[in-house]
Amino acid sequence: MRVITTDCLVIGAGLAGSAYALQMAASGFTVEVLALGDPQDCNSDWAQGGIVYDAEGDPGLLAADITTASDGAANPAAVAQLVKDGPRAVEEILLRGAQVEFDRDAAGALDLTKEGGHSSRRIIHAADRTGHAILSAVARQVSASSRITRRAGWVAVDLLTLSHNAEDESRRYEPLTCFGAYVLDPIAGEVAAVVARKTVLATGGIGQVYLHSTNQPGSVGHGVAMAYRVGARLMDLEYVQFHPTVFAREGAPRFLVTEALRGEGGVLVNLRGERFMDAVHPRGSLAPRDIVARAIHRELAASGDPHVCLDLGGLERDFIRRRFPGVHAKCLGHGVDITREPIPVVPAAHFLCGGIHADLRGRTSVRDLNAIGETACTGLHGANRLASTSLLECLVAARAAAGADVQDLAAGPMASPPRPRAWESPGREADPLLVRQDLLQVRHTMWNYAGIVRSSRRLSRARRILLELREEVHGFYRGCRLTPQLIELRNAVQTALLVVHAAALNPRSRGCHFIEEEHGREGPRG
Ligand code: SIN
Repeated sequence: MRVITTDCLVIGAGLAGSAYALQMAASGFTVEVLALGDPQDCNSDWAQGGIVYDAEGDPGLLAADITTASDGAANPAAVAQLVKDGPRAVEEILLRGAQVEFDRDAAGALDLTKEGGHSSRRIIHAADRTGHAILSAVARQVSASSRITRRAGWVAVDLLTLSHNAEDESRRYEPLTCFGAYVLDPIAGEVAAVVARKTVLATGGIGQVYLHSTNQPGSVGHGVAMAYRVGARLMDLEYVQFHPTVFAREGAPRFLVTEALRGEGGVLVNLRGERFMDAVHPRGSLAPRDIVARAIHRELAASGDPHVCLDLGGLERDFIRRRFPGVHAKCLGHGVDITREPIPVVPAAHFLCGGIHADLRGRTSVRDLNAIGETACTGLHGANRLASTSLLECLVAARAAAGADVQDLAAGPMASPPRPRAWESPGREADPLLVRQDLLQVRHTMWNYAGIVRSSRRLSRARRILLELREEVHGFYRGCRLTPQLIELRNAVQTALLVVHAAALNPRSRGCHFIEEEHGREGPRG
């Protein structure tokens, strides 16, 4: 088995993983980054709306908006860190470092927009392709760094811990410690070991365990599943946020329709043209996401309609074309001219508010294992996330984790670097049709039984189906040669089960976890 040795192994090349890698490399450490594929193949790249940059605003007001959106469940310490460190992180990493070209007004000041749950205009953006503008600039810096090795298409299989994988068995008596990961090199078709002093999970979201999602392919909670298997603490997994508006025309793919459209005056209406959000929340179409997604769900259940509409009638045509070129072009490609007609929309799985428990320096409950970005849970989002805080969280968490790791690593090399046990790979190939079908079954099960509105009966059905699937997949995993598809399926089933388990254990409707009692009434609310 090939063994690669490095200072830091970063699993995931989105904004959190890349920002961490850059800071460690700038401090003189070597970094291996595992990327799904091209720099664009991550959820950060698909972010449309923007990133909170409230340098001149009232920090107390931002903290209050985050806490209100979280349904009062956010961790005050995590909120305080984001509000305090956020502006400096944006300035250091994006404005001065990567020199991202955000939209500016005629006087050269950053253009500020608004989204649901925000009480002021405090979001900077690059038209409606903010994630792409950020990731392209950051990816250029990653490629230019001689200390970072970016391995595109390499997939982490499992974390290495002293308890499970050290050749020297006596090391299992040491505290639970991570020392890298087994990693599949899909071109060679072989599993290698990357031995690292610090391992960072930055694997992003879990949206693709649901049938409809705004997430990139492959977003099935790889980090959550791997962390679970080594015994790391997980939390708040029932809080899966559904974005209220993805494009919904029959035969067309579902894609994100940014909330910034509502921030600029777009209004949700049903197919009879009624502004149904006005009766639901004082902020109408700009209410926090969980409330809007559930209201749309209720509206569709009552009417039997296939979608509701986002009406942009109050916006100038030129403004729409200039400010939202991405959504405009994508919708036009599927026959909807958003300068002239409303956009058909439905909700879809978007963001995991819970995840791998991490402190404010990205530390998990496993020594030398960090989690940052969407896969982590510091409690920042509580039970529901405020729009345009996710990219900011990536920056703040990456900066804090790297700052702490630089200090740790500077203290000197590992006393005795562990040698991993060799990986044994069976020769048989898993039937790709079965693998595809099983993944589809996970996604249908989660959408139907663990989605926007849950009940204990639906959740127990989901659990029965997923437990059986997990047995099946375990058989593939033990007896077949690994492929990226098989690793994805194994992690998807595990992540889905963890979400269902967390949802079933929490009878209290709060934020984006909504439990309906069997006879149709909602469960107790917080
Ligand atoms: C959007 O543009 O609506 C998504 C932004 C976010 O999830 O923060």
